[in-house]
Amino acid sequence: MRVIVPLQSFVLGHGVHHQIKGQLSPSSSSSSSIRSSIVRTALVSSSSPAVVSSRATSMYSREHESPGHVGFSKCLDDPYDRTTNPNGVVQLGIAENLLAMDLVKEWISENVKASLIDSEVSRLVPYHPYDGILELKTALAAFMGQVMLESISLDPSQMIITAGATSAIETLSFCLADPGDAVLIPSPYYRGYDRNLKWRAGVETIPVPCRSIDNFRLSISSLELAYNQAKKQGVKVRAVFLLNPSNPIGNLIDRETMHELLDFVTEKNIHLVSDEVFAGSNHGTDEFVSIADVAHTEGFDKTRVHIIFGLSKVLSLPGFRIGVICSFNKNVLETGKKFARFFSVSVPTQRLLVSMLSDVNFVQKYIEIKKKRIRRMYELFVEGLGQFGINCFPSSAGYYCWVDMSNLMRSNSEKGELELWDKLLNISKINVTPGSECRCVDPGWFRICFTTITEDDIPIVMERIKRITNKQ
Ligand SMILES: Cc1ncc(COP(=O)(O)O)c(C=O)c1O
Repeated sequence: MRVIVPLQSFVLGHGVHHQIKGQLSPSSSSSSSIRSSIVRTALVSSSSPAVVSSRATSMYSREHESPGHVGFSKCLDDPYDRTTNPNGVVQLGIAENLLAMDLVKEWISENVKASLIDSEVSRLVPYHPYDGILELKTALAAFMGQVMLESISLDPSQMIITAGATSAIETLSFCLADPGDAVLIPSPYYRGYDRNLKWRAGVETIPVPCRSIDNFRLSISSLELAYNQAKKQGVKVRAVFLLNPSNPIGNLIDRETMHELLDFVTEKNIHLVSDEVFAGSNHGTDEFVSIADVAHTEGFDKTRVHIIFGLSKVLSLPGFRIGVICSFNKNVLETGKKFARFFSVSVPTQRLLVSMLSDVNFVQKYIEIKKKRIRRMYELFVEGLGQFGINCFPSSAGYYCWVDMSNLMRSNSEKGELELWDKLLNISKINVTPGSECRCVDPGWFRICFTTITEDDIPIVMERIKRITNKQ
């Protein structure tokens, strides 16, 4: 029931009477609008808050209390800047690469006019296919060949452009599974997966633990075990989702394991989705191999194989929101294209990227320089942490170190890990990702991203980590 507060008492009660007193004469033309605005304010301030759905409430509270969100908010409230805010919180919790932004900036300043402003308006403004313009698909296919795929060439008709890889993951979950079905994901894995699969598509995630004692290698027997357990509980497993290169570990899946995985999904008659967004960010000596390559050369049924890619990592353009689904399955492609209405990318963005991706010299130079810079930061980080007896898993890809800090924990448990994360955030003032957020079963591992800062910031970060190593 709405309660109408008497105008005078409301006005006086809020101490604004004197400000508006002279304007309240009935003959004044503005008085009625002032009066109705005050009545509206009174109504608003006395009514119950507008109710949102229970779905929205539960999503909000789950996300809001997660370490990922808490750390992110701290960084937004008090962001570190070497000159303007040297005591602020350092953001090492986002896999974003700022190390090669100068190269992107240079390319944009030299090319944006020709590729966008001088373009025919009819090429930018009208409706275009929601699943992406053909020119971008063609450019992306060539680009992917340049950075990741050796032996197969992708056909643009097998691609759907999405608003970032996030939408690609969600679309595949809609296409491959029904609400309540599940997918197996070797863990630890990028924390966004739980959100991207569950929130709207209602698909359950079953982590398949890879242990530190096994060098985080995926074993097919663990997959088999997880599959059989789900089956016993009446849960239908529809797919395996694989992250290659891995986020957060930074390792690469070898051909032999991919072979075993393809055998596994064939035997179970399920799908295999390979998230390859970190292809082109490998900085070590290990070779990156795409699942498409293995499926193609070894003669597997490709209709159960789907690849997720995008430009957020490889070209460090997360703000452009470009992802892509590459699939060899006609039904998935047709359905995904229908879904594309919900996540299409603006045509001016697509046109600009056609020009950028077609600039083969730029792409080559960018990838080469970026890899060198990542490798240097990786080595400096590993060396810096080594001074405190903190070891990193030997990674060869990604923008992060996978760090074992278990010797700094008071108890060898998830609780001990979160206590340490809290100290890192509030005493060291660095935001990192605790392994439990990535469903790691061994406590004490943390993902620390190093591409959001510069080389000059490393001594500052190390000094801050020292604060907590002395306090045990
Ligand atoms: C493995 C992986 N897949 C997908 C995404 C989502 O990428 P996008 O920002 O393009 O949605 C991320 C982002 O960090 C990621 O790490």
